This record gives sequence, C-alpha cells and structure tokens, in this order.
Amino acid sequence: TNVILLGPPGAGKGTQARRLVEAEGLVQLSTGDMLRAAVKAGSPAGLAAKAVMEAGDLVSDEIVVAIVRERLASGDLAKGVIFDGFPRTVGQAQALDVILAEQGLTLTAAIAMDVDDAAMVARISGRSTCAGCGEGYHDTAKRPETAGICDTCGGTEFTRRADDNAETVAERLKAYHAETAPLIAYYADKGLVRPVDAMAAIDDVTGAMIAALNPTN
Ligand code: AP5
Ligand code: ZN
Repeated sequence: TNVILLGPPGAGKGTQARRLVEAEGLVQLSTGDMLRAAVKAGSPAGLAAKAVMEAGDLVSDEIVVAIVRERLASGDLAKGVIFDGFPRTVGQAQALDVILAEQGLTLTAAIAMDVDDAAMVARISGRSTCAGCGEGYHDTAKRPETAGICDTCGGTEFTRRADDNAETVAERLKAYHAETAPLIAYYADKGLVRPVDAMAAIDDVTGAMIAALNPTN
C-alpha cells in the first residue's frame, strides 16, 4: 500500500498519517517534517527552505524531490508509504511517478481530504506538538487528558510551529489552491482518488481512510 494524503494545511494529514502508521504498519513520509529537520540541522536544503517556509510559500520542486528520492532509496519501506504533504505540485507528482516506477512501486490511492477553509485557520492556530514524542494536540479539539502532560510519553514540553500564525496560514492556503488542488484532477485521471470527509471527528476520519484503503468488495 502506497498512499498519498492530499489536503490543505490543517486538514489533519499529519494526525491521520500517525494513526495509519499504527493501524496499517505503513511508514510516514512527511516532507514538512523532513524540511523542518533540515532547517534545524542547518543543512543546505534547510538554509534554502527556511525563509520560504516562514512566508508560507512552497519550497522548490528540486529540493523537495531530492529529499524524497533520497528517503525512498533508503529502503525499509516494505509495507508501504504514506505520503504526507507530498506531492504538492504537478511537477512533484510527475517526479514521484518516475521515482516509483524506478523502484517498481505503484500507488494504491490518493485520499482527498475534504475540508472547509475557514475551519483550517482555527485548527492550525490551536495546534501544539509534544517535544518529546511528536504527538499532536489542539487547544480545544484534542487536549491531553491531564493538562500539560503528554498522553503518549508523559512529556511536559509542547512546541508551536513558526509558520502557524494567521498571516502565514493564509499564504499556505493560497499556495494549496493554486499549486496543490490541481493534483485531485491529476490523480482522478488515474482512477486513484478516494474522497474522505475530513471535517468529521478525528477517529471517524481514520475509520473512513482505513475503509478507503481496504475495500471489502
Ligand atoms: P507541512 O508540514 O506539510 O504543513 P501543511 O501542509 O501546511 O499541513 P499542516 O502540517 O499544517 O497540517 P496537517 O494537515 O498535517 O494537519 P494536522 O494533522 O497537524 O508543510 C509546511 C511547509 O513546508 C509548507 O508551507 C512548505 O513551505 C513546505 N513544504 C512541505 N512539503 C512541501 C512540498 N512537498 N513542496 C514544497 N514545499 C513543501 O492537524 C492540524 C490541527 O488540527 C492539529 O492541532 C490537530 O490536532 C487538529 N485536527 C486534526 N484533525 C482534526 C479533526 N478531524 N477535527 C478537529 N481537529 C483536528
Ligand atoms: Zn509526547
């Protein structure tokens, strides 16, 4: 199973990818996480990406495709990959087709996460992440059971992303509509699109995704 999660910022791609890793044994490939790690490490890709990400624009296809190619070449992806936040342009989708063909892999589905833009701003501005284990939280939608303590690892430090302010979120949504939304038609042409209502509760979205990946008929 190799699946693409297609959806705007805040749709819940990262949240659902983590759950599919547990439920289906897939490996998450998040270009956003990989780029943030590159920025933190100060690598050449990170130095080039930092200002672009802070502005809410898309990092160049060249940089992103290079990091994906490297990750896919590193093996350990036997049970399959969840592409979270990649591809994001038609150029990246075409490059992914080439890379998968080179490795003898095929795509199972592109899950199109349907959401309403206005709700995305609220989701993103309430978001925080456990510094210890990476579990995601939300100020109203998903709080730790005990305030200030991570449910998963017991950690007490939570971080917020530099690009999670209202101004940058508006830019990220613009980039999504201009560059990424056309991928729904790109994958529909290949018969791969599975729409999922991503406005539903987190557990229900997970259930709908698992059903989309494991058709019973
Ligand atoms: P990236 O890290 O990919 O961010 P994004 O696409 O903007 O998506 P987010 O991580 O903000 O949201 P998400 O859909 O994962 O939602 P989450 O699960 O966290 O990219 C960041 C930047 O990196 C880009 O702007 C770009 O510059 C660069 N970049 C990355 N990939 C690139 C590429 N391929 N090409 C070029 N540039 C690239 O959920 C959000 C919040 O909502 C959380 O608090 C969560 O708890 C809550 N929530 C989730 N689901 C629900 C639900 N069903 N109901 C209620 N609350 C929910
Ligand atoms: Zn934690």
